Amino acid sequence: MKQQLETIRRGALEAISAVQGRTDLEALRVKYLGKKGELTAVLKQMGGLSPEERPAMGQMANDVRAALEEAIQRQSAVLSQKAMEAKLKLETVDVTIPGKREERGRKHPMYAALDEMKEIFLNMGFEVMDGPEVEQAEYNFTKLNAPENHPSRDWTDTFYLKEDSSVLLRSQTSPMQIRAIETYGVPIRMVSAGRVYRKDEVDATHSPMFHQIEGLVVDKGVTMADLKGTLNAVIREIYGPDTQTRFRPHHFPFTEPSCEMDIQCYKCGGKGCPTCKGEGWIELLGAGMVHPKVLKNCGVDPEEYSGYAFGLGLERLALGQYKISDMRLIFENDMRFLEQF
Ligand code: PHE
Repeated sequence: MKQQLETIRRGALEAISAVQGRTDLEALRVKYLGKKGELTAVLKQMGGLSPEERPAMGQMANDVRAALEEAIQRQSAVLSQKAMEAKLKLETVDVTIPGKREERGRKHPMYAALDEMKEIFLNMGFEVMDGPEVEQAEYNFTKLNAPENHPSRDWTDTFYLKEDSSVLLRSQTSPMQIRAIETYGVPIRMVSAGRVYRKDEVDATHSPMFHQIEGLVVDKGVTMADLKGTLNAVIREIYGPDTQTRFRPHHFPFTEPSCEMDIQCYKCGGKGCPTCKGEGWIELLGAGMVHPKVLKNCGVDPEEYSGYAFGLGLERLALGQYKISDMRLIFENDMRFLEQF
């Protein structure tokens, strides 16, 4: 029996110190110390020993058990240590590797121009509104007093979404005049910006999709002087206090009288250059006094209320503000261009 115990001790200690994984170590523990383990089996034979032999053998068996338990614990600690080292090695951070550069985004120049514009109008007491790009012909044309045969209703000019010409991609932000009054009533002061769509070929100054800002003021006693005063103030805020403007008569179905507003060329100061095509002036927006029929179409009494409206192209505004020569740059999203702002 002494021999058996000695064999177990030697074999077990050797196996334990060689084991490399936790499951293998546990298997060894069961193999030697478990209920059906080798050491337990030897202990079961103790009953067959003489009373003189028993204490010494008992003592030895306990020593072997203690030695194995200690060896298992030691190996377990070794394995933990190894696992930790491997993990640390795997997760090492090389602090000498150069960091990844965070690229900071920035606002697109046209949206920067729009935000500035909105801010100016907000400070003047206007509200900012949003409206649908898919619009009813009723709102884009009819309620805006556009006659049935108006050229802008043509399928060659406007993107229709239905065969019966009742639904379209809005060709202007002016339908927001109608929607604003219908929703909020009068008096009202609002601006509304967004995309509009026309069947235009792409060139330096045209795109089938572009942006407009619409403005509308309806109240008692609003006059053309309010229109001129407000627009002059806004434009001078954007282009500088010395900016010269001029108002030319024009025609829109939904305003009467109608006008267009030009600013003196920001490039040549009015002398005439390629930017203003030699004119000295650059057309900026369409405007006018809200047509009495439009007010009536919205259930507002034109005898009691009057108002003005205007609409301007946002791309053109941004081109001027940032001295950009070609509108296509606004849409191409070329980083070399956008990073300049
Ligand atoms: N909707 C007109 C256009 O697209 C601009 C405009 C708006 C004119 C409001 C007068 C009043 O050309």
